[in-house]
Amino acid sequence: MISNKHVVVDIHTHIYPPSYIELLASRDQVPYIHKPTAGDPRLIILPSDDDQSKPVQNRGRPIDASYSSWEIKRTFMTLHGINVSVVSLANPWLDFLPSSESPKWAKTVNDDLEKACLEFNKEASSSICKLFAFGTLPLSASADDNRAEIIRLKTLRHLRGVIMGTTGLGLGLDDPALNPIWQALQDTETMVFLHPHYGLPETAFGGPEVVAKSGHVLPLALGFPLETTIAVSRMFLAGVFDRFPNLKMLLAHSGGTLPFLAGRLQSCVEHEREFIANGGCKQGPKRDIWEILKTNIYLDAVIYGEPGLKAAVDAGSVERVIFGTDHPFFPPLGAESDAWPSVGTNYAAIPGAFEKNEDIVEGILGGNAIKILGLEI
Ligand code: URA
Ligand code: ZN
Repeated sequence: MISNKHVVVDIHTHIYPPSYIELLASRDQVPYIHKPTAGDPRLIILPSDDDQSKPVQNRGRPIDASYSSWEIKRTFMTLHGINVSVVSLANPWLDFLPSSESPKWAKTVNDDLEKACLEFNKEASSSICKLFAFGTLPLSASADDNRAEIIRLKTLRHLRGVIMGTTGLGLGLDDPALNPIWQALQDTETMVFLHPHYGLPETAFGGPEVVAKSGHVLPLALGFPLETTIAVSRMFLAGVFDRFPNLKMLLAHSGGTLPFLAGRLQSCVEHEREFIANGGCKQGPKRDIWEILKTNIYLDAVIYGEPGLKAAVDAGSVERVIFGTDHPFFPPLGAESDAWPSVGTNYAAIPGAFEKNEDIVEGILGGNAIKILGLEI
């Protein structure tokens, strides 16, 4: 575990506030929570979770109080030496709600988060400083509804941005209908925490039977990062970063595979005959992906290994990579009170990759987040 000489900020840490848990428990289609008469309820949120060949009490994953309790969040922070957490609603956010309901739910969830931060921070101890939050948007509603919520979030003291999935209004993040929302996010200097949920179609992995053999491994290890990579690549190709040069995006899981594939992506653009710059008639991206990685994009350090972390820092910069845990996902499968191996792996990669450079370690662990998100601690 890390020494306590640095302020540690966790910017990738989730919660389902109690109101949202009730919403999931009131449903019987993905996403939903199944409450059996005996044993833990089951969280059934991923497309592959709702495996009809299994009894409903074995689908998805067990969900206990760690998904919704602020006290358990505090215990987790203490156990892992985390001083500040920027919490976000976990997937699939409000994506599944009809347009008539999402604005009301966005307000409920965002107000719940603000209130929880306020209460939590009253009890700050010597080691735990503070809680902040990323809000959620009513993406199934109109651009005006989203713009209104983006502006309202600026009035909530502990909100530091928004978390968003990759589907946008249903057609992906290159959909021109998102332009007013990108504009509002840029105008208000709101950080977008982009997080995967839908993964890849099961056919990409050989079909449902193959996926089922290894549970969540293929959807989470490969589906999630590729989903993020594809979403950002589509934004890049559609010129979103050309139209909104000041948009700020924090990419989950160190950008999926974007740091590793950025060179290939840029090279393919430079060799694409369809693009005007190469004699074709279609507008390609005007700014190159390396520049976007160094000006628009921030990456978390949730990558579980030194090569991935080094790639994130190389592709972005040492000031743009930020520690995270993904709590309450990936809990230890053994004793409850032990430090979480998933967190330990992410922690260890930071001094492992940059052991000689104390400033880089300090920045990734917390200094970068404090500056980028304006966290007063
Ligand atoms: N991490 C998340 O944030 N969501 C999941 O569904 C699984 C892991
Ligand atoms: Zn996450």
